Amino acid sequence: MILQRDNLPNIDQISEEMSHVLGDYDTTELRQFFVYYQQCQAGAKEFGTKLENLDSEFEMLDNHNPIHHMETRMKSPRSLIRKLAKKGHAFSFDAIKNNIFDIAGIRVITNYLDDINTVESALTKQSDVTLLKRKDYISHPKPSGYRSLHLVVSVPVFRANGPVATPVEIQLRTVGMDMWASLEHKLRYKTDVKKAKVEQFSDQLKNYSSELNQIETNMQHIFNHLQEK
Ligand code: GTP
Ligand code: MG
Repeated sequence: MILQRDNLPNIDQISEEMSHVLGDYDTTELRQFFVYYQQCQAGAKEFGTKLENLDSEFEMLDNHNPIHHMETRMKSPRSLIRKLAKKGHAFSFDAIKNNIFDIAGIRVITNYLDDINTVESALTKQSDVTLLKRKDYISHPKPSGYRSLHLVVSVPVFRANGPVATPVEIQLRTVGMDMWASLEHKLRYKTDVKKAKVEQFSDQLKNYSSELNQIETNMQHIFNHLQEK
């Protein structure tokens, strides 16, 4: 058995340490933030369980797993502050709560294209799930060629004092879209590649994005054919 500990900071300890750095800083704000951060992590766990349960149900009924695998991540406080600044806000608990919805994120990698909609609709019709935001970069890919379905969904997390609606960002994409996004991400953040090369690779990748989409559409047809009883 593996016992996993999250290594969350103790709130009194971290407030005390931060007050040394920030001087007369209002630690209430900081405490609120860390409590919320852990709440978001709990929200991601709720959704992780929901997704695993749905995947098992489809496996049993259809002999097919829509989900290839999932990845979950918490946004680091550093990149959270950077994102807040980019949106024109200083660090405050309210600014975070009202503007940042991807503190907790789950990436769902599906086997086939149709699995994305299957998972989305099975998840969003659950009575305790609320869809807050939906960006369909599959019907409308980004100029880069990026494809994925981005959802912000909320679920009640049961705190000591009762339930609190908690947002989690879920990105759904196929294995092909995921492979594409990983390589394109690398190109975007590699600073030592010459400009001309970057442009050439960007054009190539944009083409591959639609080629991959075509291949995945064709593979979906074969899969559907094989699934017919
Ligand atoms: P907020 O609403 O402020 O969260 O921004 P947003 O949701 O509009 O951001 P967006 O949906 O554009 O992108 C969020 C995430 O999607 C990024 O952190 C990346 O993981 C991924 N992403 C978006 N666009 C691209 C792209 O062109 N290439 C790659 N590789 N990934 C992308
Ligand atoms: Mg986002």
